[in-house]
Amino acid sequence: MTGVDALIRDRMQSPVPVIPALADHLISSAGKRLRPLLTIAAARLAGARDDACLKLAGAVEFIHTATLLHDDVVDSSELRRGRVAAHLIWGAPSSVLVGDFLFARAFELMVEAGSMPALEILARASRVIAEGEVLQLTRAHDLDLTQELYLEIIGAKTAELFAAAAEAGAVSADASRERCAALRRFGANLGIAFQLVDDALDYSGASETLGKNPGDDFREGKTTLPLLLAIARTGGAETEFWTRVIGRRDQTDADFLRAIDLMRATGALQSTLDLAADYAESAKAALDDFASTNGWRPALEDLADFAVTRRT
Ligand code: IPE
Ligand code: IPE
Ligand code: MG
Ligand code: MG
Repeated sequence: MTGVDALIRDRMQSPVPVIPALADHLISSAGKRLRPLLTIAAARLAGARDDACLKLAGAVEFIHTATLLHDDVVDSSELRRGRVAAHLIWGAPSSVLVGDFLFARAFELMVEAGSMPALEILARASRVIAEGEVLQLTRAHDLDLTQELYLEIIGAKTAELFAAAAEAGAVSADASRERCAALRRFGANLGIAFQLVDDALDYSGASETLGKNPGDDFREGKTTLPLLLAIARTGGAETEFWTRVIGRRDQTDADFLRAIDLMRATGALQSTLDLAADYAESAKAALDDFASTNGWRPALEDLADFAVTRRT
């Protein structure tokens, strides 16, 4: 991970001054670096001995960082990794364009890594993330969103990169087709668990630990699972409330607190976390065919546990 960080710092450079300044603002803050960790751990579990996976891990983190820059503009988020969001300092146009720069850097690194299959996996992931973000955008304020479509959205916008990160690591280690598929399955399930918890934390977390402002989803009228479950479980009694605050986005701070109360009372937050725990277990089950004596397997299992117990 030290090697990946050095690579990222080196490749965020550019003679155009605003690029390294803006990129450094985000990159030197407290990101968890989960996705590159996943690439490296998957590669090592699959038997990689050399450091070919480092470039792919760097590319994965660049893709993630690019999506964060774009996502904060799209979501009008004000806080990221405990810092003021870049678009509030440099403006949305610079933020979007530096996001593009980081995407391009990711592709340069993938080409250098020299694995056409890994390039294919991560190129597809980049496309699927964009599809997920656009799909979510077009379904905001939709009180009738099904759980199935919600899972499709988070599968695309979040789990696809976790899946690709793990699969690319395995592919770079020349693992068998079965092992590549198993590690992809691990990443995909981990990614769903991760986003489910993220969506719960948007109602139950604290900005000091989260580094993001809770309530962003509510303010944007985003129909995430805690909200969908609370709507379903309050029956017709709160229809007017949900239609006003989410359907029309006519809301006050007190409405956010009321929504949290309803989510707690109906068990919507707990059910979201329970579902996340199920996905984390499925992730771990995907590793069954790897020897438990290989220390990277428990490391990946710990990552699945972290995804569902985290407050950060
Ligand atoms: C944030 O991901 C975007 C989501 C998929 C929820 P992380 O929580 O992994 O972000 P950093 O990199 O640690 O800031
Ligand atoms: C996370 O989206 C997925 C991407 C950034 C592509 P969210 O909007 O749910 O995540 P946060 O809460 O801003 O990190
Ligand atoms: Mg967001
Ligand atoms: Mg978003």
